[in-house]
Amino acid sequence: MKQILVTGGTGYIGSHTAVELQNAGFEVIIVDNLSNSSIEVLDGIEEISGIRPVFEQFDLIDKEKVDAFFGKYPNIEAIIHFAAFKAVGESVALPLKYYRNNLVSLVNILDAMDQFNVPGIVFSSSCTVYGQPESLPVTENAPILKANSPYGNSKQISEEIIQDTLVACPKLNAIALRYFNPVGAHPTAIIGELPLGVPQNLVPFITQTAAGLRNQLSIFGSDYDTPDGTAIRDYIHVVDLAKAHVVAVKRLVESKNKKPFEVFNLGTGNGLSVLEVVDAFERVSGQKLNYKIVDRRPGDVEKVYADTTFANEELGWKAESTLDDILASAWKWEKKIRGIE
Ligand code: UFG
Repeated sequence: MKQILVTGGTGYIGSHTAVELQNAGFEVIIVDNLSNSSIEVLDGIEEISGIRPVFEQFDLIDKEKVDAFFGKYPNIEAIIHFAAFKAVGESVALPLKYYRNNLVSLVNILDAMDQFNVPGIVFSSSCTVYGQPESLPVTENAPILKANSPYGNSKQISEEIIQDTLVACPKLNAIALRYFNPVGAHPTAIIGELPLGVPQNLVPFITQTAAGLRNQLSIFGSDYDTPDGTAIRDYIHVVDLAKAHVVAVKRLVESKNKKPFEVFNLGTGNGLSVLEVVDAFERVSGQKLNYKIVDRRPGDVEKVYADTTFANEELGWKAESTLDDILASAWKWEKKIRGIE
């Protein structure tokens, strides 16, 4: 069985990916420092897939621990590197926290890949690298614009660090997956997103408002140049996203990648406005949502959604879930963790 290291594997996207990797017959080793996730997630992964992944708790910015880890597990064939901080607003207030964590961990991993002969890495990137694209849907060839936040910049710099490393170490290969807006939870509601504190993202804020944890959803801006005035995003089910990682890992371990560094957009190709998401949530959940329109949120782009042609054709992968599936799974998860019938 091929061993895959999943960094950040107890986190939101990492845990769903661990399930799909195990379902596909890979052996998963998770490394996580549990800074933004909990150990119980391992029980959830085991409950869904029937297998408990190997787990090692340490911080990937500690180079000695990273090297010791790869010495202990010499048969790892590929890495999926999720572990990173991801709160846009916090990154503006604490840029060095973001650069240290997101960049140093990547450097340590790439160094170890070279030293311990781990040939492939799948890297979690973001559509944030495109900023506000000039033309939509956005393709992988769209220019990278100046990042709006240290978080976004850390993703851009990470992609550059990987590319520079591949030039110097031709035995290494990488796939960067640029996520659009990952949302939803596993359909079993055994794992899902667990935001710390007040959620910054739309869907967890909606489900927490419906569950009574938040009084009111603020919709950030209704004067955008979009049909209903609210901003447009491409919301992709986290399980669809997880499955794309399995395809990407297979591509690396089977040496089917066509270039040492490949980039794929992971989205649905459908742009949806905030109000469309709110309406769909009300319909799917039967809950009336208390919301108000407020000013735009600084740093938000007006509209972005993916051209998925390259990912669909080259990976043979396509997002399957509908918006209703996504919101139903998010609501089922919220109700489960809040004990709502
Ligand atoms: N929104 C609201 N109210 C809220 C939260 C969000 O109206 O309470 C709106 C936002 O203004 C935006 C849309 O809902 O128009 C989606 O916002 P999210 O915060 O859910 O997602 P973003 O598109 O802002 O951010 C996501 C990821 C980031 C990443 C960014 C760009 O969460 O990590 O995409 O890639 F940086």
